[in-house]
Amino acid sequence: MNRRFATEQPESFAFTDANAEWARTQIRNYPPGRQASAVIPLLWRAQEQEGWLSRPAVETVAAMLDMPAIRAYEVATFYFMFHLHPVGSIAHIQICGTTSCMLCGAEDLVAVCHDRIASAPHQLSVCGKFSWEEVECLGACANAPMVQIGKDYFEDLTADHLTEIIDRLAGGKIPRPGSRSGRYSSEPATGLTTLAAGAGERPAESPAVRRALECGDTLFGMPQ
Ligand code: FES
Repeated sequence: MNRRFATEQPESFAFTDANAEWARTQIRNYPPGRQASAVIPLLWRAQEQEGWLSRPAVETVAAMLDMPAIRAYEVATFYFMFHLHPVGSIAHIQICGTTSCMLCGAEDLVAVCHDRIASAPHQLSVCGKFSWEEVECLGACANAPMVQIGKDYFEDLTADHLTEIIDRLAGGKIPRPGSRSGRYSSEPATGLTTLAAGAGERPAESPAVRRALECGDTLFGMPQ
């Protein structure tokens, strides 16, 4: 996957006072000479602040950590959690396009994003609220096809499911994360074949989904 910084970049980047103080606290968590270990949390906080990671933001973080800018570029361009282009103000939809998801219908999900958001990845929708991209495997292959939005996974999707998720977001509602086929977690799609005792007594939501609902920060990291 070709990951490059957006063509149009801001002149500069600066953390807010509160975020700069938070960043200094993070850096102090590491021994002298190991400050570079804070690169991911600082890049993530920069993205939370701006909605995406610009080149000046990455360079600012590198300077704060006394590391070569190229090392910070390597991190920012490797992980899909970092958005190198401006994203929709409500949601940036990351569709897994790797083998399991592609075989199970990822192209249908891409088609929904084509129709509902923009004809090309990394383009903002006309309303500016949505954007999308195809990404590599997100590690939920047993529940393919799936997308990540903000911090949450939406799994076992069809085109109708993704359309409904986008509609809910557009209506100001947070969609429930997790499987759309009724699976509790990543058991076989046809139901449990082992360790089935007590399965009927499980709560409706898996611990991961329940935790996400409790946190209520599905869209955390997106400018609102
Ligand atoms: S192939 Fe889609 S999550 Fe792994």
